[in-house]
Amino acid sequence: GRIGVVIVAAGRGERAGQSGEGPKQYRRIGGEPVIRRTLRAFRDHPAVSDIAVAIHPDDSELFRDAAGELASGVIVVHGGATRQASTRLALLSLVERGLDAALIHDAVRPFVDASLIDRVVDGLADGCGSLPAMPVSDTLKKGGMSGIVAGTVPRAGLFAAQTPQGFPFAAILDAHERAFSAGRSDFTDDAAIAEWADIPVRLVEGSADNVKLTWAREIEMANARLSAAGF
Ligand code: C5P
Repeated sequence: GRIGVVIVAAGRGERAGQSGEGPKQYRRIGGEPVIRRTLRAFRDHPAVSDIAVAIHPDDSELFRDAAGELASGVIVVHGGATRQASTRLALLSLVERGLDAALIHDAVRPFVDASLIDRVVDGLADGCGSLPAMPVSDTLKKGGMSGIVAGTVPRAGLFAAQTPQGFPFAAILDAHERAFSAGRSDFTDDAAIAEWADIPVRLVEGSADNVKLTWAREIEMANARLSAAGF
């Protein structure tokens, strides 16, 4: 089938700290903008036919500079106020492309690689969505009053969700449209929207490398890791 990709990159990255350096998807790690690495992973994958990127309306120039020649043929749309809104707008921009499936990915996960994309694509069998995830390894605590632990959450059977998350195209677009019409804007990933819409979602093996660069510290660690690897 024909597989399109949505890369959501319209966040402001407030949690990484601004300090004049701009949103984290445009920060450089190993000498290259985060989003350029992300984009390359999908452009280089033979199963991917179309790519749409949702950016913030203020970031057109940042995106052009960061993506360079990798932006050619990529659909660029303005995102919305939430990740959910940005995803929906990017999916809508792909409607005419005749896609069988869409992979939806956070721009701030630049360490996605071909084998992870392969696993997600394989997980799409039988009309299922496909979710890469890692078993939770930390012991989970519930916070209580005044910083005192209120309890321990059993971690058996719990997974941390990653992206890219794959879905049959028509089903996930319909789920987004229904969530939008229902006034829901609080879904933090697309698998949650699929669950809400009763689309079965298959767990596939994530990748320990596929971290989400949320905090300034994570950008520094990614940079150090790439430097150590000789990039
Ligand atoms: O903010 P959060 O950690 O959920 O961001 C995950 C991804 O969603 C990031 O790549 C970010 O740029 C994107 N995002 C978006 N539109 C928003 C908020 C976040 O595309 N309004």
